[in-house]
Amino acid sequence: MALADRLAALFAEIDEIGKTPDGGYRRFAFSDEDAALRAFFRTQVEARGMTYEEDAAGNQWGWYGEGRADAVVTGSHLDSVPDGGAFDGPLGVLSALLAIDELKERGITPRRPIAVVNFTEEEGGRFPLACRGSRLLTGVVGADDLDQLTDSDGITFAEARGAATFAPDPQALERIGHYVELHVEQGRNLATMSDAPLAVADAIWPHGRWRITIDGVADHAGTTRLVDRDDALLKAAHLIIAIREAAEATGTLATVGKLDVEPGAINAIPSRVTLFLDARAPEVCDLDAVIGKISSAVDERGAAMERISLTPATHFDTDLVADIAERFSLPVLGTGAGHDAGIIADAGVPATMLFVRNPTGTSHSPHESAELTDCAHGIEVLTDVLAYLATE
Ligand code: GLV
Ligand code: MN
Ligand code: MN
Ligand code: MN
Repeated sequence: MALADRLAALFAEIDEIGKTPDGGYRRFAFSDEDAALRAFFRTQVEARGMTYEEDAAGNQWGWYGEGRADAVVTGSHLDSVPDGGAFDGPLGVLSALLAIDELKERGITPRRPIAVVNFTEEEGGRFPLACRGSRLLTGVVGADDLDQLTDSDGITFAEARGAATFAPDPQALERIGHYVELHVEQGRNLATMSDAPLAVADAIWPHGRWRITIDGVADHAGTTRLVDRDDALLKAAHLIIAIREAAEATGTLATVGKLDVEPGAINAIPSRVTLFLDARAPEVCDLDAVIGKISSAVDERGAAMERISLTPATHFDTDLVADIAERFSLPVLGTGAGHDAGIIADAGVPATMLFVRNPTGTSHSPHESAELTDCAHGIEVLTDVLAYLATE
């Protein structure tokens, strides 16, 4: 079967998991969907005769070849944002599995072990921290930090995990010699700027997440005169406009994509709104600038702002990027999207990513798309990269 068809068959196996009526996916931590995807990963690993393992941080691994030291690692994540697309995450995991098949078909015997990884909760779709699995693995966050996290139903991470325990895993990190993640491009650089179906990544913009809380006073929607109201959501609306203006003034990106409104009744004036802010910029000074302006707007409105996470710029390994770009004739791209590859690179592992062309550039949406033939080309090149790194 052609590689594109084999990829389509693997996508079909997980297609119904967490699918929404509009064709998106909801795949969140500790859900039935999460369990089904983790079972799928394990089955795929074992079906290939690879050794299945979980690290202390909850990430899943499939090992191919002898030993564990200085491994060449590839993979991505199987969770999604709310109503995410099919490719962001799963493409990298499925491609990694198919690349192992390709290596076997090509009769390549790696001198270094190769591992496929499924990182846990990359999107932070349930608990507000992105890249949970890689951040915990590398120890940038600790188990106690996670236990404090709360989902939008007020359930803490500690409650959700129940008896399961998670911890940093320095030994698992130590084993990663190189990391290369294949991912759908989350923009239109390849579709508009070049004819290439594939690029290699050199950087990830600095980005962060903040929680902003605005208080008002709950009251009756039918009896409270407009002039007498202290409406937290109305204040939040003005703040969202100020955030947009701050982003425009600084040439950055700032997004409020999630609000919690209390008490959350149609007929009650909102007493408290929690806004979740995502901000990204090509340079850290630009990110500081937009956050400075937003903090002032927050202060002016008597609101409170608290940082959830801040991820500095990632510069992927210069030699590795240049080598892959030259050897496989790939254009080089940066991105504003965060990835586990960035966390792994920041921990000192030579890492990079391969981006597959996305015709519309859309991502974090059911409309995300990629041509399966482009994806298959990505798998071929990923196989070449793994073969090169594991036999060099
Ligand atoms: C994750 O995909 C992010 O960039 O937010
Ligand atoms: Mn994503
Ligand atoms: Mn992703
Ligand atoms: Mn991401």
